[in-house]
Amino acid sequence: MDRKLKMGMVGGGPGAFIGDVHRKAARLDGKIDIVAGAFDIDPKKSRAMGQELCIDKNRTYNDVQSMIDGELALPADERIDFVSVCTPNHTHFPIAKAFLEAGFNVMCEKPMTLTVEEAEELKTIVQKSKKVFGLMHNYTAYPMVKLAKDMVKDGDIGKVRKVIVQYPQGWLARATEKEGNQQASWRTDPKKSGIAGCIGDIGTHAANLAEYITGLTIREVAADLTTFVKGRRLDDDGNCLLRFSKGAKGLLHASQVSIGQENNLAIWIHGEDGSLEWHQEHPNWLYVDKLGEPTQIWKRGNDYVGERSEAAGRATRLPFGHPEAFLEAFANNYCNFADTILAKEAKRKPTDLEKDFPGVKEGVIGMKFIKAVVESSNNNAEWTKL
Ligand code: NAI
Repeated sequence: MDRKLKMGMVGGGPGAFIGDVHRKAARLDGKIDIVAGAFDIDPKKSRAMGQELCIDKNRTYNDVQSMIDGELALPADERIDFVSVCTPNHTHFPIAKAFLEAGFNVMCEKPMTLTVEEAEELKTIVQKSKKVFGLMHNYTAYPMVKLAKDMVKDGDIGKVRKVIVQYPQGWLARATEKEGNQQASWRTDPKKSGIAGCIGDIGTHAANLAEYITGLTIREVAADLTTFVKGRRLDDDGNCLLRFSKGAKGLLHASQVSIGQENNLAIWIHGEDGSLEWHQEHPNWLYVDKLGEPTQIWKRGNDYVGERSEAAGRATRLPFGHPEAFLEAFANNYCNFADTILAKEAKRKPTDLEKDFPGVKEGVIGMKFIKAVVESSNNNAEWTKL
């Protein structure tokens, strides 16, 4: 590492959820410092957050445009290297676009945009800008997920036949949005969340996880979305059949009304010779089954994991038995994102390991997934291409 990267943030104000996770994760390995931000839609709250983070008053901005103007007015070596966009969905596109066009690298929250059209446009902007763009699908950054990906790629379970992926939560089982819950209120508002609720918010994570591990692409969906909570304007539950490339089949279910479920993202991948199973709430273990053999449990932090998968080894910080989880997964995406920026700066090609973080391509796929699922559900679960 030649130097630390300077991070700016949009969103993540007082009481916000994911911005704080980004800040902690980005700083975990000492490669990144946070030096600027427009942290809240309310300038007063943005300043309060800047103060809490001990950020230079002159670099705590009231809004996105003053942040871009302020940073561009600084000498080039003092400006932020990248911005993290941690705001509600409807603002991702304009904010990411503005920073890319002003010459900054961007790490953006998911879903990437509000529509497929915006996603395609952002892809063109990223390509033109030659800047690095990351999308925070954090679940693919767990070491045991990377191990699973390498096992599938190397044929350990043979040709993939079937994928079952689930992401049930229960926190929206009641109309929490009517009780002033900040996170629930914009997530259930189509103007801010997009055409989907639950399926966009967490279904996209499940779809991204399935594609990442298997290397397959979801080609068609047959989906049944429901809004169980009276008066809610977007789906809070979804069940989808999936048809992948290369003939694999799958099931994806996501829910925010499954009482008792917290963040129970889990995946089962069945191949011709074996199966893999991983649970986000127990992320340090990967279950491996081979036909006619007892179940193996591969445990993170053991030398055999790093020897089997370089990506898993690289994504591991602690020895076995000391759990790593959510924050470390975000940090893994930040490490690879930062290394890719630094590689470009050093005028060398980033390695495949450094490039192993989701970006604009996955963002476009996510938006196409949402659109196809909603269309299918509106047509009585008719098979719909992505
Ligand atoms: P939140 O409601 O807790 O926080 C949003 C923050 O953005 C607030 O501080 C708000 O004031 C600020 N904000 C809104 N518009 C702004 C603007 N124009 N300029 C500056 N600040 C602005 O929302 P939450 O839950 O943190 O979600 C934010 C994003 O992160 C969403 O897109 C969501 O889908 C994504 N997310 C991703 C997760 C993951 O696991 N990757 C988990 C949770 C959220």
